[in-house]
Parts: sequence; C-alpha cells; structure tokens
Amino acid sequence: MNMKGKDLLSIHDLSVDEVYQILNLAKDLKAKQKRGEEHHLLKGKTLGMIFQKASTRTRVSFEVGMWQLGGMALFLSANDLQIGRGEPVKDTARVLSRYVDGIMIRTFSHDEVVELAHYADVPVINGLTDLLHPCQALTDIFTVMEHKGELKGLKMAYIGDGNNMVNALMHACAKVGMDIAVATPEGYAPNAQSMAEAQADAAFSGSKILLGHDPLAAAADADVIYTDVWASMGQEKELAARMKVFHGFQVNRELLNAAKPDAIVLHCLPAHRGEEITDEVMECEQSVVFDEAENRLHVQKAIMALLMG
Ligand code: CP
Ligand code: NVA
Repeated sequence: MNMKGKDLLSIHDLSVDEVYQILNLAKDLKAKQKRGEEHHLLKGKTLGMIFQKASTRTRVSFEVGMWQLGGMALFLSANDLQIGRGEPVKDTARVLSRYVDGIMIRTFSHDEVVELAHYADVPVINGLTDLLHPCQALTDIFTVMEHKGELKGLKMAYIGDGNNMVNALMHACAKVGMDIAVATPEGYAPNAQSMAEAQADAAFSGSKILLGHDPLAAAADADVIYTDVWASMGQEKELAARMKVFHGFQVNRELLNAAKPDAIVLHCLPAHRGEEITDEVMECEQSVVFDEAENRLHVQKAIMALLMG
C-alpha cells in the first residue's frame, strides 16, 4: 500500500490500488491548490530533473509542483551534465542520490532509465522515454475521471502513431478497466511487449484492447478520442515520409462525429494542427486538452508526494 521509496518507470509496475492512490491524491491536491490551502508534503525535499529532450509541460509542472509541495527542483540539462560527456548512468545515479530526494528523467532509451533506477537510492520517475510516458497517461485517465466521473467501462480511441504515448495509455486503460481501440497505419503498431503487459492486466480488469488500422472503426462509440504527433522527438527526419503514411489518421470533425456525442478529445501536446489534429477539433467544446495539460501538475505532485514523502 505504501509507495514511499518506489520508482515510477511504467504504469504496468503499479498495482490497481496504487493507480487509484495517485488519482485520489491528485484530486485532493488539486482542490487544496484551488482553495489556496498549503500542502507542503515535501517540505525541504529536492528533485533532480534530467532532460535529454525538449519539454514545456513536464519541466514546468514538475518544477512548479515541487515548489508548491514545499520543496525545490533542479533542472539538469543532459548537455550540461557530465553524462553528456560520457559519465556512466550508474555513476550519475549514485552521485545524484547523495544530493537529491528524487530524480525525474526524460531521455531516449528506456533501458537507461531502468539502469538509473537500479543504481539510484532515491525514487526515479520516468518523464518520457521512447517507450513510455507514464506521467502523461496517468494524467489522461485522471482527466477522463474528472470529465466523466468514472473510468471502468469507458472506451478510448487512440488514432495515430504506435508510440510511447499509446504504449502507456494501453497500460493505464488496462489497469482501470477502460477499453482502448487503437488505429495506426500498418507497420506503426504499438510496442508488442507493452501490448502484452496491457493484455495481462486487461484479463483482470475486463477491459478490451483492440489494435487495427481503421480510424473510424476505432472511434465508433468512443467516450474519449486521443491522438499524438506523427513524428515523436528523435524522429524529426522521418516527418515528411510519415506525413504521407499517416494521411487518413487525422482527428478531424468527421472522425469526432463517429464517437459518442459527448466524447472528449485529449492530446498530450504539443499538437501539430493540420497534421494529427485539425485546428477546429483542438478548439472545439469537446476538446479538454488544456485541462489535461494543467492536470500534469496535480497528478505529478501526487506521484512525488507518494514516492518521496
Ligand atoms: N506532454 C508533454 O510531455 O509535454 P512536454 O514535452 O512539453 O513536456
Ligand atoms: N510522442 C511524443 C510525446 C511528446 C510529449 C514524443 O515522444 O515526442
């Protein structure tokens, strides 16, 4: 039950109870913050944040979140750390553990994060790898819960690239009993191991995980429509080729009309209007992408408080 000292590398590693502990605490902390009530659960604690990739939401929400919890965060660009000049991850992990109470890392290789967590004595939080983006997917189900009041039995449709985002979303949906229908172009399916892990949890929660290549079929009767960029960080050179492959996998008015009339639209952001999503859908009443972005703050505060408190 107690998550103190644990890492958060993948939602698959969490129990269902731990997922709900995060969601419930996030709700509580959001309410406290809105009321202006002090909630210094991490007074005097520090978070080291290693970034190998760009970020707006992750950097700002973790940094502000630590401050609101009574602690402080250090932005550590990998370009400036010795890690960028070849100092091993296992040494960096042990050194940082002597200074800080938790480490958040955004990088390319998921294995690097696993290695960091293995050698670190403090909790390690995955702030996005090429494989998974667990803090975002936990935020996404929190946002669904806020707007729909429940999770179990709802259907999410994910349209687009089989990337880190959908891998984490499959994990999240499977934990809480949400169905997820994924539509990607052929050859761009989600990670097979993430899919298998999600299937294992789905067997307990009763959720259905469906992979296909037909966006309209995936969107049919969906409560949540989700999309993400066609070229993730590190894939910029593939964008021109991907634009052709992903044509037809855009979240536009026609696709949204296939979902339930009260479906909400989520996007982890940053969004590329005119590519994976139209400006019209981004700006429509059903789009809750800015609530979703805000909720990164509340959900990550809950994660940090539970792991580092
Ligand atoms: N969604 C998300 O992780 O955004 P950033 O890349 O801006 O952190
Ligand atoms: N799939 C995207 C998510 C960005 C938050 C990427 O990895 O670039």
